[in-house]
Amino acid sequence: MKLEETLTVVEEVESTNEVLFRASESDYPIPSALMARRQTDGRGRADRTWASEVGGMYLSVLLKPKVVEGLALLGSYTVVRLIQERFGIESQVRWPNDVTIEGKKVAGILPQVKFVGQELERAVLGVGLNVAQPVKSFPEEIQNDVITLGLLSSKPLPPTTRLARLFLKILEEELDRLETSGLQSYVHSVEEVLEGVGHTAVLVSDSGETDEFGVVAGLGPRGELRAEDGTLLDSLSRDERLRVR
Ligand code: BTN
Repeated sequence: MKLEETLTVVEEVESTNEVLFRASESDYPIPSALMARRQTDGRGRADRTWASEVGGMYLSVLLKPKVVEGLALLGSYTVVRLIQERFGIESQVRWPNDVTIEGKKVAGILPQVKFVGQELERAVLGVGLNVAQPVKSFPEEIQNDVITLGLLSSKPLPPTTRLARLFLKILEEELDRLETSGLQSYVHSVEEVLEGVGHTAVLVSDSGETDEFGVVAGLGPRGELRAEDGTLLDSLSRDERLRVR
């Protein structure tokens, strides 16, 4: 069955990731996709709140991928393709799990995985895409850092259900490519749309402290952020964000 045919759409849930992850504890079909028009407790990276007002696309996909690493890049790259193919707009992957347009965040990806022993038993890949929700519905402190497709598109916006189906169609192609070619080869595609190449990346903590990472050169073989001097960054800590300047 095609991934897009597994989509269930609901009006409201706390968090599509949480609901699908919990459901998967008890024999829920894999793969499955769940979209909500609104979330009451949307979650982002490091357990941050994800503003989830009506108008955005809140989608999670339950999978059993053959690969463990690279799921955030897979989701981000899928969003970049979706935005290009449906709106003709260029966007970038902001490592490790965001998609930006002109430096403003348009989407975030949240992978959650469950292992049994050494084996990856399942993964939930969540995506929040800013489509038509008012910028005022985001917390005030991030309103200048986010963008919606509605602000950029002169044409009427498609329903979020149609965007979700297109996301799932592209995701299926991209997952197949990742599993077939392996992460080391897959990251080359992602590098082409990586934000900040040639610019200095800085790690900014929630308390405002900054730590310069270096000039971004691309990605490492396992999807790490790679600096020009060869340094690799494999993850951000909970209270860090990446900024390029
Ligand atoms: C981030 O940038 O921090 C990741 C945000 C991921 C948000 C999506 S919306 C659908 C799914 N359900 C959630 O609660 N979170 C993800």
